[in-house]
Amino acid sequence: MKLRAPVLWLLVAVFAAAPLSAAERAPGKAAIASAHPLASAAGHEVLAKGGNAFDAAVAVSAALAVVEPIGSGLGGGGFFLLHRASDGLDVMIDAREKAPAAASHDMFLGPDGQPQRRLSLESALAAGIAGEPAGLELLAAKYGRLPLAVSLAPAIRYAREGFPLYPRVQANIERRRAVFAKQKEVAAVWLRDGASPALGTIIRQPQLARTLERLAKHGVRDFYEGELARRLVTGVRKLGGIWTLEDLAAYRAVERAPIVGEYRGARIVSASPPASGGIVLVEALNVLSGYDLAQLDSATRKHLIIESMRRAHRDRAVWLGDPDFVTMPVAGLIHPFYAAGLRASLRLDRATPSAALPGVEPPPQGTQTTHFSILDAEGNRVAGTITLNFFFGSGLQVPGTGIFLNNEMDDFSSKPGSPNGFNLVGAEANSIAPGKRMLSSSTPTFVESDTGLMIAGSPGGSFITGMVLLATLDFLDGRSAAEIVAAPRIHHQYLPDVLQYEPGALTEAEIVALGQRGHQLRESGRRWGNMQVVTWDYATGRVEAASDPRGEGEGQVY
Ligand code: DON
Repeated sequence: MKLRAPVLWLLVAVFAAAPLSAAERAPGKAAIASAHPLASAAGHEVLAKGGNAFDAAVAVSAALAVVEPIGSGLGGGGFFLLHRASDGLDVMIDAREKAPAAASHDMFLGPDGQPQRRLSLESALAAGIAGEPAGLELLAAKYGRLPLAVSLAPAIRYAREGFPLYPRVQANIERRRAVFAKQKEVAAVWLRDGASPALGTIIRQPQLARTLERLAKHGVRDFYEGELARRLVTGVRKLGGIWTLEDLAAYRAVERAPIVGEYRGARIVSASPPASGGIVLVEALNVLSGYDLAQLDSATRKHLIIESMRRAHRDRAVWLGDPDFVTMPVAGLIHPFYAAGLRASLRLDRATPSAALPGVEPPPQGTQTTHFSILDAEGNRVAGTITLNFFFGSGLQVPGTGIFLNNEMDDFSSKPGSPNGFNLVGAEANSIAPGKRMLSSSTPTFVESDTGLMIAGSPGGSFITGMVLLATLDFLDGRSAAEIVAAPRIHHQYLPDVLQYEPGALTEAEIVALGQRGHQLRESGRRWGNMQVVTWDYATGRVEAASDPRGEGEGQVY
């Protein structure tokens, strides 16, 4: 067919006017925000060797296991939200821990029928079957370009040559001092004369280096079916745990469709169950979409944000769990009509008591768990939230491996209706069952508006999703990456029925106005979270990477 010139011009004009989809754009620059400068540098090193964002995610995760072992590690798990630029694929790698086959519904209940926190947090029973190594393998093999050996190299070097001790890790060694002192190999690395080492002490982890080298040489299957698997099972059982070789051999990281929503024209892509983050985030944004927040006074705006958090976290408590075990009304929970119903119960002038919502104390703040955000020059992205649960997991290490065991079993509802270590309540949907994944608050998220992109996430247990909600609103209000990570935070998680806020997050006038509406306010003694954000402005091409000033991380643009 021969097209006449005017038709051709018309076609050209139409195509020129059509906004480019994110898949058709490439930033031309790479950016990494992570909780430690050495981890960001590991990612950069791998990008410079020809790796993409997915290889960098492997390098950053492995490096964090070495230099931020309070937050994540090979003995833990996590969620990696990916975007592949070549075809626009969005997918989540679920590397969440699973309950061992010998786990049971009431395993953490004492003779009085009450949950025994010590067992679900500090014993070897607290450890779910680790998922992070399987997640890294899937990332590298299916999405990366480089062999695992190359991506693990920086982490191996950090483990061998050491990293200088910094305040956050030192403080958490102090908290785990008693349990470290009882483990000879742990004490040799992490204690000096029974006390935490001085700041700046070079921490070398030769056993962890050897473990990482094994993975680089023999592949991650060694962790699940090889020599390392045997060592893990023997070690965990000696510590009183219930892992078996079959548990490890059966573990698989799985790919799941992310939760997708929309807020004021922006596309929200976030984690799906067994992470609760995406559903809670999209549900809260759907509630908020019924108001023009920009036109409201700041107290009313914050009141509405808190009320949306309250309602979305209520649904988390009632409905959510492992999708392989429970049927959840996901489509309904993230539907705009459902949010419209929730808005009908919401008053502008009054807090809704959580007890008034149908259904089922201040959580430890902190920056255990870790998040990183990566964008490469082609536009591939990773938002990764990986965790051991509480600082250094249970504090127990598998002898001979340098691997700390997670205490993620506490993320289950040991007793439906009773709060866990984050004061989160859950229902039967999140009860313990053999082979089941515990519900997570992880919220690795992409926000794509007409004008730009944000890659975001944070540690912070039950606070995580609320932080990402605030970050989403700030991003869509035009704030920079640095402003987003620094902004003071407010939080509500349904139960306890308390509006918690960081120092400086509310003005005196807002405190009075929110109190008058019936909110129970509590100023937190400490700030929470360690958010890592990458943003990309399509019009100017500007890429920013910002690391939360609450931590010591670094955002870098290359
Ligand atoms: O997956 C979860 O929801 C928790 N294990 C996360 C723990 C966490 O963020 C600890 N940080 N303060």
